[in-house]
Parts: sequence; C-alpha cells; structure tokens
Amino acid sequence: MNRLGILISGRGSNFEAIADSIGAGKLDAEIAIVISNNPNAEGLRRAQQRGLRAVCVRSRAMEREAYDRLVVEKLRAERVDLVCLAGFMRLLSAYFVGEFPQRILNIHPSLLPAFPGLEAQLQALEHGVKHSGCTVHFVDEKLDAGPIIAQATVPVLDSDDEGALAARILREEHRIYTEAIRLVLSGKYRIDGRRVLPTQ
Ligand code: GAR
Repeated sequence: MNRLGILISGRGSNFEAIADSIGAGKLDAEIAIVISNNPNAEGLRRAQQRGLRAVCVRSRAMEREAYDRLVVEKLRAERVDLVCLAGFMRLLSAYFVGEFPQRILNIHPSLLPAFPGLEAQLQALEHGVKHSGCTVHFVDEKLDAGPIIAQATVPVLDSDDEGALAARILREEHRIYTEAIRLVLSGKYRIDGRRVLPTQ
C-alpha cells in the first residue's frame, strides 16, 4: 500500500479531500502521517479526529535545514513514499528535496507560473486576469516551481472578491490533487524536461 505523508500549515481542506478520496476508494493509498508546522492548525485537529497519526513539528525560530531534518526523520519513521504538501507554507531545503526525489507534490492556487507565493488568488484578482485556477506540481527547492502534473482553470467573475475566487479555485484543488496523486502513484508517466507526460 502506498504510504502518504501530508504536510499542512492551516485549515487542511486539501488534506481532507485526499483522505475522503482514499475513503471512497479513489486512491490506492493510506495516510501514514500528517505533520503541521503550526500547532494551531485546524487541519491537525481534523486529522486527529479522523484517528490519523497527526503531529506538530514547530518551525518557529528554526533554521530551514535543521527543521527539514526533523520532518524527514518523521516521514522515514512512518515509511512514507509520497509527500503531499497541502497548504504547507514553507520552502523546502535542497536536503529535503534530495531525500524524496520526484516524490514530493504541492498544490498552489493559481495557474503557475503565474502568481507564485503568498495570496495567489488576490494577486490574480489585482492583476485583472479573466481566468485563474490551480496547479499540482513536483516540488524542487524553488518557490512554486517544478514540473506541472495537473492544472484546472476557473473564470474570474467581475463580481469576485478574494474569498469568492478562492472558494471557486478550492473546489478544483480538491478534485485535481487526487487526480495528480493517482497518476504519480500509478507510475504511468515520464518527465521530459519540464513536461509530465502520461505513458500507456
Ligand atoms: C490552498 O488554497 C492551497 O492551494 C494554498 O493554501 C491553501 C491551503 O488550504 N497553498 C499555497 O498557497 C502554497 N503556495 P487548505 O489548508 O484548506 O488545504
């Protein structure tokens, strides 16, 4: 069985969508551990309520690689083979990325490479784009970079505020994260430069 390690910092709705997909038999995987860098993360409580192994590894005042070593140690102890960042608001060190080559995924609420970083939905709104969306990609040491596995678009409506746009994008996030995990777990893809191409 594929063992997922899920890293969160806050609400945890993407984590819950993944857990629901597993529960519905849409993903052949189990959640080995949920790790939050934030002790107050709602997602941490939700994971505990679901009876999952869910722990906080506090990142405050810690040097990046020292922190990542603690997290990698926990993931290794649980024999995790795919790491899913789900609203985990930290850059990973080269050390972390090197420990799980092409086995770390991230979801971001924009059509990358547009609007990386914080408040992607607000960035899109302020830029005046007519469409935005979300992206699941492999993680490297750069911010919101790495080969793209899946994207979905949504319209930006004239009446949108940040919350309305974020909610429309979030529904698509929950859908495509499962699809991307399924593809990666199936192994039926190859990476050609920056392109992730399905095989068979
Ligand atoms: C999601 O919109 C996710 O795409 C975003 O944070 C939110 C977390 O929500 N991630 C990033 O912006 C990463 N750069 P959630 O905790 O409910 O899954």
